[in-house]
Amino acid sequence: MSRSSTAPVLFDCDPGIDDAFALAIAHASAKLHIEAVTTTYGNVGLDNTTNNALRVLDWIGSDAPVHAGVQRSLLTKKVDAAGYHGATGLEAPGIPQPSHKPTSGDAVNFLIDHLRTVSEPRTIVATGPLTNLAMVLRLAPDVADKIDQIVFMGGSTDYGNDSPAAEFNMMSDPHAAQIVLESGVRTVMFGLNVTHQVLATPPRIAALNDLANNAGPVFAQMLGFFADIYRDQYGFDGPALHDPCTVAWLIQPELFETELMRVDVDTANGLSYGRSVQSPNCAVALEVDADGFFALLTRLVSQLN
Ligand code: RIB
Ligand code: CA
Repeated sequence: MSRSSTAPVLFDCDPGIDDAFALAIAHASAKLHIEAVTTTYGNVGLDNTTNNALRVLDWIGSDAPVHAGVQRSLLTKKVDAAGYHGATGLEAPGIPQPSHKPTSGDAVNFLIDHLRTVSEPRTIVATGPLTNLAMVLRLAPDVADKIDQIVFMGGSTDYGNDSPAAEFNMMSDPHAAQIVLESGVRTVMFGLNVTHQVLATPPRIAALNDLANNAGPVFAQMLGFFADIYRDQYGFDGPALHDPCTVAWLIQPELFETELMRVDVDTANGLSYGRSVQSPNCAVALEVDADGFFALLTRLVSQLN
C-alpha cells in the first residue's frame, strides 16, 4: 500500500517504553503514517522524552519531525514515572542516541499552525499527559474542527495506578484532560481497565525475542525491564502494553470493544483526584482480544529492521 493511501497521524507522547512500542507499530503499519511527533513531560522530564522520541524514530527509520512541547502540567506538581521506565525513560541499549535534534521546541504552536494548514482533519494519538493538546485547544479553539479524533491512553473505568483512583496520564494533568474531554473533539479512551488486559507474558516476550530481526529482541529486552515492576507492584505475569492499544485500535479496531460513555476527570483535590468519572461522552475501550493484539504487535515488529 503506497504511503499516499495511509492515514496521517500526529503523535503526542512521553517515551517511555510503551510509547516506543506505539511509535514503532504505527511506523510499521501500512495503514498509518506518522506525520509528526510532539513530546511532553510525563514518564520522565521533557529533555529525556524528547531525546527518546528522536532515538526511537531514528532507530525505526522514520523521518517524522519531532517538536518538543510543555515541561509541566497546567496546575499540578511535577510528576514522573522513572520508577517504571528508568532514569532516562528508555533503558534500551539497543536503541542508540539520536543523530538529529528536535525540529522545534514549540509543539503547541507547531500543532496549531499545522492543523490550520491541512485540508483534512487529523487523528491525534496521545500517549502521555494531555497538556500539549489542552494548550492547543485553549490557544486556538478553531483547530478543534481540524482534529478528527484524539485517541488517547489514559484514565480507567475502575482503579488507577498513580493512586488507587487515578491513572498516571490523567493524574499528571487532570485539568488538561478535562479540557480535551470537554472540547467537543471526538475522543477514544484506552484506560487501564483495557490496557491491563494486554500483558506481555513470558511466551509473548519470547515470541518477540525469537524474531529474526533486530527490533524483536530489543523490544523483548525493554519489556524485561518493565516486567519486574509489574510483577512486584501488581503480581501481573507481564508488563501491560498501555500505549500500543491506541495504535492497534486504529489498525485493527475489531480487536477492541468500545462503548460510548461520558468521561469527566475529578480535578478537585479530593480522594478521587484525577479519577475519570463516568457518564456518556467518549468512546471507552472495555475489552480487547489480547492474543489478537499480540499477534498484530509481533507481526508489525517483525516488519521493522
Ligand atoms: O498509566 C500508563 C501511562 O503512563 C502510559 O502512557 C505510560 O507510558 C505512562 O505515560
Ligand atoms: Ca506514555
